[in-house]
Amino acid sequence: MTKQWTPDSWRAKPGKHMPEDYPDAGALAQVEQTLRGMPPLVFAGEARQLTHMLGEVAAGRAFLLQGGDCAESFKEFHADNIRDTFRLILQMAVVLTFAGGKPVVKVGRMAGQFAKPRSSATETIGGVTLPSYRGDNINAMEFTEDGRRPDPERLLKAYGQSASTLNLLRAFAGGGYADLYNIHRWTLGFVDDSPQGARYRELSEKITEALTFMAAIGVTPESQPDLHRVEFFTAHEALLLGFEEAMTRVDSTSGDWYDTSAHLLWIGERTRQLDGAHVEFFRGIRNPIGLKCGPTLEGDELLRLVDALNPDNIPGRLTLYGRFGSDKIADRLPGLMQATKREGRNVVWAIDPMHGNTLTAANGYKTRPFDRILSEVKSFVEIAKAEGVHPGGVHLEMTGQNVTECVGGARALTEGDLADRYHTHCDPRLNGEQALELAFLVAEKLKEERVEMVRHAAI
Ligand code: TRP
Ligand code: MN
Repeated sequence: MTKQWTPDSWRAKPGKHMPEDYPDAGALAQVEQTLRGMPPLVFAGEARQLTHMLGEVAAGRAFLLQGGDCAESFKEFHADNIRDTFRLILQMAVVLTFAGGKPVVKVGRMAGQFAKPRSSATETIGGVTLPSYRGDNINAMEFTEDGRRPDPERLLKAYGQSASTLNLLRAFAGGGYADLYNIHRWTLGFVDDSPQGARYRELSEKITEALTFMAAIGVTPESQPDLHRVEFFTAHEALLLGFEEAMTRVDSTSGDWYDTSAHLLWIGERTRQLDGAHVEFFRGIRNPIGLKCGPTLEGDELLRLVDALNPDNIPGRLTLYGRFGSDKIADRLPGLMQATKREGRNVVWAIDPMHGNTLTAANGYKTRPFDRILSEVKSFVEIAKAEGVHPGGVHLEMTGQNVTECVGGARALTEGDLADRYHTHCDPRLNGEQALELAFLVAEKLKEERVEMVRHAAI
């Protein structure tokens, strides 16, 4: 059934949530041509490595931690922001690795997460109607005619920002910052004096003790370079297919096509139409890919998507991210898990507990209650256990910055607090303290799973 695929075969299919109002199609085509000549941001071999590691997740032997901004922006682009999100991911990974006793695959929603699907193509303020803001790689947040007009030059700026973000991430991951002996240094200042900070200190002391023991018996960063570095991968929603197409290249080793804009790309809930442009583009790239699964998705439709996207049933190729909402997950997820399990489809099942739990506070701020986020994660692990499926990972919108965007958590942020530091360019993110708290709670769940497995093995 597979029809001929080319990096631009998506253009013949209906594509949603992509801007159609570039004033100058020629200028856009020229920018895309320039991008075609730019160096790849990631290499095919790295993408294959991630597929392999996600294959371990699919087999129940590892766990996926994916997180970062809802939308990156030109304005918030700063080395400190990148470092803070990176070290938060390290802290969370430590917590999860320790509790789960399994490797944690670390993926940043970073270095390319710009474009956003919007529920409405236009926005009206005070009687003025303008195109919606679609992300910094397309137009500006500023509510003016000029700002909201799509500008192709922004794609080049986004490419440049992604390249330097990735450069810094590579340096952090491999250059000593992520050394396990630095475990005490990753704590963010504002998290330090919180209950999470204290809990983390306790854990890092245990790990440091274990490292001292290991060093004494000869396991040192010199003999074991993995102690000194992490594999860190990037991911974003591949929404704007013109950009993704321009970044797609043939890998000279394998002869396969890879989208070199990030290691992992995913299809959003709003663009997963079986006959649509996004599914068409994704089926031809060899990167590990993801699919968001929301409350309207039925089991048979999911299976058709899985077959279109991963016809060879390669473990690690496809990650499914449930995003139902804490009130709907118990109704929706079991059927979907039963479908993939019954049909023997090798997928990673992960949870995105952010997008189904968004609401507008009385004061107009978009927010997410921490309790609901937590509740959806807990339900996810419990449902997976009941269905005999590995609860493979979490996908979070979070930042190392001390923002006030999600209500609740140990400090009980209220709707009244939201105005204090509400900086997101799109959806509300967990702050460092809330993200770490969530990691500890997920860790408890993973530990229960591990203890139970050990008990079963003993019987
Ligand atoms: N490389 C190993 C891993 O990624 C161990 C490791 C080194 C690590 N630095 C880390 C684990 C920081 C978590 C966080 O698992
Ligand atoms: Mn979002």
